[in-house]
Amino acid sequence: MPLNKSLLLLLSIPFIFGTPKKPSEWTEYLGGPDRNHFSSLSQINIQNVKQLHKAWEFHTNDSSGQMQCNPIIVHGVLYASTASIQIIALDAATGKQLWRYTDASESAWYSTNRGVTYWEKGNDKRIFFTAGNWLYALDATTGKKISTFGKEGRTDIRQGLGSLSSNKFVISSTPGTIFEDKIIMPLRLSEGADAALGFIQAFNVITGKLDWVFKTIPSPGEYGYKTWGKDNYLNKNVGAANNWSGMSIDRKRAMLFVPTGSAGFDFYGGLRKGQNLFANTLLALDARNGKRIWHYQLVHHDVWDRDLPAPPNLVTLNIRGKKVDAVAQITKQGYVYVFERETGKPVFPIDEIKVNTQGLPGETLWPTQPRPQKPLAFARNYLNENDISAIAPNREELQRIFRSIRKNPFDPPAKEGSLIFPGFDGGGEWGGASFDPETGYLYVNACEMPYILKMVDAPKQSQLNNMTDGEVVYTKNCVTCHQQNLLGNPKSGYPSLVDIGQRKDRKYISDIVSHGKGMMPGFTALTSTQKESVIDFVLKVEKKQKTSTHKNADAGETFNYNMTGYNKFLDSNGYPAINPPWGTLTAINLNTGNFVWRKTLGEFKELTAKGIPQTGTENYGGGVVTAGGLFFIGATKDEMFRAFNKLTGELLWQTDLPASAFATPSTYEVNGKQFVVIACGGTKLGTRKGDSYLAFALEDK
Ligand code: HEC
Repeated sequence: MPLNKSLLLLLSIPFIFGTPKKPSEWTEYLGGPDRNHFSSLSQINIQNVKQLHKAWEFHTNDSSGQMQCNPIIVHGVLYASTASIQIIALDAATGKQLWRYTDASESAWYSTNRGVTYWEKGNDKRIFFTAGNWLYALDATTGKKISTFGKEGRTDIRQGLGSLSSNKFVISSTPGTIFEDKIIMPLRLSEGADAALGFIQAFNVITGKLDWVFKTIPSPGEYGYKTWGKDNYLNKNVGAANNWSGMSIDRKRAMLFVPTGSAGFDFYGGLRKGQNLFANTLLALDARNGKRIWHYQLVHHDVWDRDLPAPPNLVTLNIRGKKVDAVAQITKQGYVYVFERETGKPVFPIDEIKVNTQGLPGETLWPTQPRPQKPLAFARNYLNENDISAIAPNREELQRIFRSIRKNPFDPPAKEGSLIFPGFDGGGEWGGASFDPETGYLYVNACEMPYILKMVDAPKQSQLNNMTDGEVVYTKNCVTCHQQNLLGNPKSGYPSLVDIGQRKDRKYISDIVSHGKGMMPGFTALTSTQKESVIDFVLKVEKKQKTSTHKNADAGETFNYNMTGYNKFLDSNGYPAINPPWGTLTAINLNTGNFVWRKTLGEFKELTAKGIPQTGTENYGGGVVTAGGLFFIGATKDEMFRAFNKLTGELLWQTDLPASAFATPSTYEVNGKQFVVIACGGTKLGTRKGDSYLAFALEDK
């Protein structure tokens, strides 16, 4: 068939098979291939939102981890995951369970899961999800594994990564993206010296076979290889540059948009000198074969963990009277970068700003970093001494700490400490932004939590020689988050392991060390001897003898430097050490690059009671914008679910939830009734535990 004829045929197909799209449903992660969190439903609207009430609540009876799932709704069925990655199908009108998939043969999976992917062709309807390093295919009607997919219903998502990554920690928290008969997978990896290679892989939805691979760290001879310094590709201590936050797809153009994270090890780049393409990059790939169409790197040679945190929004803008199909990427730094979709040309000019290059000995920083002229940052990224919290009981102490650290944006990691602001999670976060095609407004929620990044020398061999095997494995793999003394940093979310044996059994600890939990990666590369020895060490049952060579403990390659943990900069009451806002919601007109409105998001009721204006809180999970004139969001620490007027930012409705909803809601219509549903539960930020999916609707007339 001549090319133009086949092209014509393609264009005449009303929708491309794989992913049904009815405006009344929510068939894909974040509402559609454009990841715009938008619904054209308007039954619930500005006039009646105050009458919204609970329609149903489904208890998963599983509160063992975090719930970050954005449920999908297809043909009246809601598909979602529980905290330990069991998959459920509910009647979307009533919340009644239709089936539940639990794999009894597996160890418990405690890692987070943000949703599942639906695919159909004729009567073949499939649900895809990942647990551990496996991509599973379930029959969407029965919830049973499809035995012809991969090996007995699952396929290994490390297949295309090569031998350097074969025993490393590789999971996926975010659902895959469908293009025709392919599913393209995000990956979550370790961010340390043991990071796997974060390539982009497409798998066949029928067979589970690897279809194509895009190398985010190029091979010798490939474009970008030279941006990693001499011979560094073969250096087994360089990895990551993975997409963990998910992708967006323009199926008409067969263009896949892939935001990537930083290279590993996150905080020291002395073994990966150079710009490090395609880490921290927005990639436009040909969805048919994974070939690169264009790319734009948003952080050069990242040593601050500035991953691109969310799938970009595929938007259509009106730029000075001209229609422009564009792609908008939010960042942890608080900027939105907008590009023409086909060419990658910036819609608003991007400047290269000179930055501090005085890094640790052995480090070579990149001299500039990109900053868009518009829109302005939606989160603060600079602080001075006056910004230290006026309500902090220990304000002077905090100011003293503040004076002693580096504090300009992109100041390199150092032993005296560097301010990371907005914090390690952003700024813009994995919840992602919502886009309203009716107005061209982008809605983005952000945290303004400061962190202090501090570097220390890695322990010398002579120090390791005096340790037992278990302590060596612990020192090389666990101290960043749990500290040498096992005390952790509970205020920042890193639990103490002191007396862990009195709280938890060996099997639980072993599952966590193998597979990870929440923010903790799994340590799949440890041998069983190393794993047992580190468990003995934390359980304090280790025999005190040591093998002087540590040949059983020599796991976890280290660098010259370690970081001392992801430490929040807090006052003595546990609040952020800076003046509010601590959480915000901003509406940006992407046609002009100007802000429309901005609100604090979230509340500490005990502070409001003292007369302190609403401060905002840390928030995780995004919102939903609707044709009913509303913007819905949970996300805050205060266990609330809220609806704002999307044009003005006025708070129109709010309700208490049984637990905080660190997840993005979905909205859909069944039998003529519109629902808004949100996952609330999990154990993040020390909030109350919960295990529900909660749906809201208007009263029947
Ligand atoms: C990148 C940070 C990080 C590293 C490195 C890390 N952990 Fe963790 N760990 C965490 C976090 C965060 C949690 C809490 C997870 C949750 O409940 O969501 C945790 C939880 C645990 C728990 C369960 C504690 C409880 O009270 O339930 C154990 C046990 C544990 N870690 C052991 C280890 C060991 C052993 C290592 C090294 C082999 C290690 N961790 C390395 C971050 C880390």
